[in-house]
Amino acid sequence: MNDMRGGQRGGDAVLSEAEVAARVDALISRMSLAEKVGQLCQIGGVSFAEGPKPEEIIRQGGAGSVLWLNDAKQFNALQRIAVEESPSRIPLLFALDVIHGYRTIFPVPLAMASSWDPSVAERAQAVAAKEARAAGLHWTFGPMLDIARDARWGRIVEGSGEDPYLGAAMAAAQVRGFQGPHLGAPDHVVACAKHFAGYGAADGGRDYDPVFLSEAQLRNVYFPPFRSALEAGVGTFMSAYMDLNNVPASGNAFLLRDTLRTEWGFQGFVVSDAFAVGSLVTQGFARDGSDAALRALKAGVDMDMASNTYAQHLAKLVREDKLSIADIDAAVRPILAVKVRMGLFEHPYADEAKLEKVATLAEHRREARIAAHRSMVLLKNEGGVLPLPKTVKNLAVIGPLADSKEATEGSWMVFGHKPAAVTILEGVRAKLPGVNVAYAPGPEIRREVPSMFEDFFPETKRPAQSPQDAEAAYNAAIAVARAADTVIMVLGENADMAGEAASRDSLDLPGRQQELLAEVVALGKRVVLVLLNGRPLGITWAAQHVPAILEAWEPGTEGGNAVADILFGDVNPGGKLPVTFPRKASHAPLYYARTLTHQPEDNPRYRSRYWEGLTTPLYPFGFGLSYTTFTIEKLKLSSSKIQVGSSLSVTAQVTNTGKVSGDEVVQLYIHQRSGSDSRPLRELKGFERVSLNPGETRTVAFTLGPDELGYWSASAGRWLQDPAAFDVWIGSDSRAALHGELDVVS
Ligand code: NOJ
Repeated sequence: MNDMRGGQRGGDAVLSEAEVAARVDALISRMSLAEKVGQLCQIGGVSFAEGPKPEEIIRQGGAGSVLWLNDAKQFNALQRIAVEESPSRIPLLFALDVIHGYRTIFPVPLAMASSWDPSVAERAQAVAAKEARAAGLHWTFGPMLDIARDARWGRIVEGSGEDPYLGAAMAAAQVRGFQGPHLGAPDHVVACAKHFAGYGAADGGRDYDPVFLSEAQLRNVYFPPFRSALEAGVGTFMSAYMDLNNVPASGNAFLLRDTLRTEWGFQGFVVSDAFAVGSLVTQGFARDGSDAALRALKAGVDMDMASNTYAQHLAKLVREDKLSIADIDAAVRPILAVKVRMGLFEHPYADEAKLEKVATLAEHRREARIAAHRSMVLLKNEGGVLPLPKTVKNLAVIGPLADSKEATEGSWMVFGHKPAAVTILEGVRAKLPGVNVAYAPGPEIRREVPSMFEDFFPETKRPAQSPQDAEAAYNAAIAVARAADTVIMVLGENADMAGEAASRDSLDLPGRQQELLAEVVALGKRVVLVLLNGRPLGITWAAQHVPAILEAWEPGTEGGNAVADILFGDVNPGGKLPVTFPRKASHAPLYYARTLTHQPEDNPRYRSRYWEGLTTPLYPFGFGLSYTTFTIEKLKLSSSKIQVGSSLSVTAQVTNTGKVSGDEVVQLYIHQRSGSDSRPLRELKGFERVSLNPGETRTVAFTLGPDELGYWSASAGRWLQDPAAFDVWIGSDSRAALHGELDVVS
């Protein structure tokens, strides 16, 4: 049961369930049908609105929430209309996408998942919430919880990667960070678990395309992060856009009503994705707007985001007896309950001076820098090239992203945000005062088809570099590299190359970056590659030819400082990949938790692969290096035989065997050898990031019980736990070799 953890009375005592219900009932009893429908409508803010002005709609009580507006003055102006002029004086909820920071930008969610440290995500989202709330926002459309196993899918950047166990841990942490101890806690916002569900499995990795997932895949792989968010008390859910098994997610009663409400007991409210109720017609599901409104509401969408379909049709559907007042009330109730819990009736207005005080807090920058440190993954470090000595001479920083604030802050900025990141170039220069750091960007990179955000924000459009200028920039970069002894290449993707409507058919470095990299490497310099990107890239050539590679992702406002801290040894990297890196796009989707085939992997001729080359990952799930070394040994099971339903503990010892302090992420994997269904080759069932001084040893302990050993069985059509033999591994990535055996008996 999800109780959304109480609520508050404008900063005072937490309200009980009964108090909230009584206040909601009192409101409902005096609302007209039109006003009730109004609460179910979320409208675009002033600059995005078409048709009647938001002020007018709000004055009539025709809106429960406003999105795509980011201006405290305008929030207050609209709120004043809602609470002083609308019939029942119900305050508005102001909502926006605050995905990885409001003003202080944190690493993108995929990067934060690379920390394998849920407290990183929790602290980041707490800072994001504090700034967003100070700006007058109440509700964020995050966390994004879609499991993503296809690196081509652009929205992989917004989630926590491919694994349900890691994803569930990050989901709960983000909800705690955004919402605080209870809904309505000061300096926090309401979170939204999105996009329910299955969106990450789009056919071909093409955003918005249909998804076909069995119930077993949904329940075992795609639902766990959502379930975890629910258990952490998330206030709202967002329904996804795409068809799930031929039923659009925003009209999908199996998802929204049967699973979320009835089975899981969710008590908050469900908002559709933008325009998704209206899109039920476009998707060839609903006959017309009226049918769309009817079926979305019946399926369990409480609030219509921006499509205006509820506003146009719900009241008429009630008058025609196709919907009852009870149907409408059931949707209105949880929306009002969130407003009551958030204390909006007592404190509807934003303090317009607060944001500047909050967003400039030094601790926010400090948190952002730590989050960036902990998110970065060292992929290669041949011959200990890294860390570089601070006495380095003749250093050059090269690449189109080296001085890009946009690429450093990454995908999904809040509306109106001006990127203000410390770039990698700036970070390196600040780290080495007095050293002359040469710089050349090389040719720019850009998407062939412009991002949809360019349409929304035309001011972000830049004229393309001419072929002559690009050629000159290329030659200048080579000349700068030639004059250097050490070259830091900063390559990857622009911020608009991942995210919504940003899928790719290639995982190559876009533009001429690969050519530039190869030519710089051919000069025989000491080359370090720093990657800024929002998805796994097919860097097979670099993995063979560049001695050191740091996956910095899109590291946020403090990204450049954090990269410099790592490159020059002030911080030892300890992140691990939350996604498999395929060798190339044609290998996607590629993920570690596949089931066995009838031709085991070591059969070279028949194994599941293409004949052109290996389809094993370039870098496996869970992988990441450190400047020190670790051993993991002495795997011990508290018992080698247990009964179905009982638990055991699994321990191992991890030791820092190197010369510097560092972090290891100890990971536990299992495999069920036979049973009602075939089970994945390996499944993550425990992890812990530990910091160890040189020579230090720690014992790490995990529990395996029914939650870890059971699963939703396709053949039985229910949750079960088989009596079966299990392999258990503990190690530093998904190839862990330290092995034990467990017998589960009935
Ligand atoms: C569409 C996106 O799919 C969703 O993630 C986002 O929250 C909404 N637009 C609102 O901006």
